[in-house]
Amino acid sequence: MGLSVTKVYVTRQLLPPYLEILKEICSPEIWSGSNPPPRKILLEKVREKDGLLCLLTEKIDRELMEKGKDLVVISTMSVGFEHIDVKAATERGIYICNTPGVLTEAVADHTLALLLATARRMTEADSFIRGKKWTMPWSPTMLLGSSVYGKTLGLIGLGRIGQAVAKRVSGFNMKVIYYDIYRQSPDVESELNVKYCEFDEVLKESDFISIHVPSIKETYHLIGERELKLMKPTSIFINTARGVVVDEKALFKALKEKKIQGAGIDVWETEPTNLNNPLFKLENTVLTPHIASATIESRMMMAELSAKNLVAVLKGEMPISLVNKDVLKVRPLSKVKRV
Ligand code: GLV
Repeated sequence: MGLSVTKVYVTRQLLPPYLEILKEICSPEIWSGSNPPPRKILLEKVREKDGLLCLLTEKIDRELMEKGKDLVVISTMSVGFEHIDVKAATERGIYICNTPGVLTEAVADHTLALLLATARRMTEADSFIRGKKWTMPWSPTMLLGSSVYGKTLGLIGLGRIGQAVAKRVSGFNMKVIYYDIYRQSPDVESELNVKYCEFDEVLKESDFISIHVPSIKETYHLIGERELKLMKPTSIFINTARGVVVDEKALFKALKEKKIQGAGIDVWETEPTNLNNPLFKLENTVLTPHIASATIESRMMMAELSAKNLVAVLKGEMPISLVNKDVLKVRPLSKVKRV
């Protein structure tokens, strides 16, 4: 088969060099809007396409796969794949690929940025000075925050990103404790200088708590009223993982009633979040709009990896990051080859 017959749809314009990579095998059709393509358009566009390169804003369900009955690969430019019905894809022999690894460092950086900004009240201080409230000289009690150095950091989830956060905080002399359904080996624990604890113990003992688990049904509202009550009143809560892991109403209540000291939040129960979200009214929060992986370097690598994964499958080769390994049994790579 030649260049003209392989059909690929891309749901957004991405950073280079993804296009050059895709052009090796096809002339992709690319949605030019800065918002995601409307559902109706997406359902039309996947007809007769062999491959789809999407983002986490697209719902990739059975209905879409039925419309795109020629699809053999769906490559998402995200590490998370909760927007994709992986089971339905595997049944149909559709390869699902994601972009783990290339955003780890950026997300870990952002986690630390939120942690420091919340502890040191950066956004309040910034508003204070811009709001022309800095009218008295240096004061021993103005905008006091919490020390980070030497404190205890509790990580819920110690996968790639949790580990990258643990590595960064050794310079802050932080004690790191963690909970994960998969306990790491003693070697990894000692290399990272982290201690495994039960879930409740991490919540009770930590000065800072940071979430690094995927969105799966077991992690839905993992942090709710009960969990927030276990945290120290001086604790600071950070979420750069997924909004649905936290009961946002319970978080608001805990922050408002000063059951915990502050929160740094990048991810939301619904995105974009409601413009009247009550969390906006609280001073003890630092809020960002799901940008933890948003560095030029990271987004370029994500685009590149998602394009490489897509091209590999269409060439009948093993992609770098395959989510549904079982698909190899349903439709072997030799039967996928489209170029
Ligand atoms: C971002 O949140 C991702 O899953 O890549």
